[in-house]
Amino acid sequence: MTAIEGELVSGTGSTADTSGVPFAVQNPLRIPRERYYDRGFFDLENEKLWPRTWQMACRLEEIPHPNDFTEYEIGTDSVLLVRQADMSVKAFHNACRHRATQLEKGVGRLPGGQLVCPFHGWRWNADGSNSFVYGDHGFAPECLRPDELRLRECKVETWGGCAWINMSPDAGPLRESLAPVVDMLDALGWGNWQVKWWKEVILEANWKIAQEAFMEGYHVPQTHPQLAFGLPIEDYPVDATEYHVHPNGHSHFENKVDGGTPSLDGFLMAGRALADGQDAMTLERDLNVLGALRHRLKPGDNVRKAAAEALRAHAEGAGIPWTEGMENSPLFTSGEVFVFPNLFFLPQYMNSLAYRIRPYGNDPERCRFEVWSLTTYPETEVRPRAESLGRFAKDDADNWGLIPLQDFSNIERQQAGVRTRGFDGLRLATEWEAAIGNMHLELDRRLAQD
Ligand code: FES
Ligand SMILES: [Fe+2]
Repeated sequence: MTAIEGELVSGTGSTADTSGVPFAVQNPLRIPRERYYDRGFFDLENEKLWPRTWQMACRLEEIPHPNDFTEYEIGTDSVLLVRQADMSVKAFHNACRHRATQLEKGVGRLPGGQLVCPFHGWRWNADGSNSFVYGDHGFAPECLRPDELRLRECKVETWGGCAWINMSPDAGPLRESLAPVVDMLDALGWGNWQVKWWKEVILEANWKIAQEAFMEGYHVPQTHPQLAFGLPIEDYPVDATEYHVHPNGHSHFENKVDGGTPSLDGFLMAGRALADGQDAMTLERDLNVLGALRHRLKPGDNVRKAAAEALRAHAEGAGIPWTEGMENSPLFTSGEVFVFPNLFFLPQYMNSLAYRIRPYGNDPERCRFEVWSLTTYPETEVRPRAESLGRFAKDDADNWGLIPLQDFSNIERQQAGVRTRGFDGLRLATEWEAAIGNMHLELDRRLAQD
């Protein structure tokens, strides 16, 4: 085993025997292609990964009021998240205790605070206790024991503006499973982020292929030439980004800040290029604040520091909550945090893009890819309930910014490529693509569990 492989393995904190896992990763720099389409491997993920993993099931702004619900689908499971009268959140397996009919679909508000089965009309309170069985005298008593009529719950915890579920009753605490990236996100005030917009796309690709496109910046000069500012690929500074893999399958990358002090123009140009057509990360609000620095900066001033001070002054004036010390995070100006198994944050200032990628239905070669633009609103601003703007085609240039259009365009071609008989597995750069190997090692560790 090379030093680099050893580093990756210890990065997962994993010593699991994965010999029983089909197509297990033997070398985290070489990923077997079958992991992206094999039915048995996909079924194993559905059995061992998703039902036993903390996963982001909804943003809290989706269910702002008591009795609001939203459905979270993963594999063949459906879970209803229901806001309670005390503002806590409960999660119920979405199946009637009579004959399994799904109680609700999509999003909505429980009429009269009741979950009502559309088949024979059994009802439940928002806390999952049964409130009505039609014709109960026709059932044997053992079929109507109150503890068996309660809706079955999943574990739920709320953190970072999200509700997270775990279907396993043995699951440990959420924050333990999010370590150590939870601290980085806490430092950026992610609990203050709220939905500005939210959209989705269905891609003809395995969920892992889709998300791996966002685990590295190595593809930037070829896929997103506008972010290279005219530099030929040979001259694009591939080492300007620092990659870190962490235990539990998590990873993050950040831009090295010792690359010299940028000019204000360079700084703004980079912000605009990322924001262009996206309405995310760098927002118009930020460009206004940062543009005004032009009149204040003196030669030799540190642009990043001045930018943070200006944004902070603006936030204080506008009543936007500011997380103490957030400007000291290398992620404040840009970077990415991957939360195993399938969630990304690309923070910038008081904003972030977020991605969640999951299998679509029961198909190993389709995935559902959601994108959120998150920002921090003034504390007094009353926000509407967060709703998805809808599902848009991967090449819908009216609804996707240039960067996602470019990323989406590669994903299905890559899926077709791993299907090609002559392809013998991914080969990953130790420097730039280690997060992919790290995620696969953690996946195998999960799949190897009894
Ligand atoms: S299946 Fe729900 S009441 Fe019959
Ligand atoms: Fe990209």
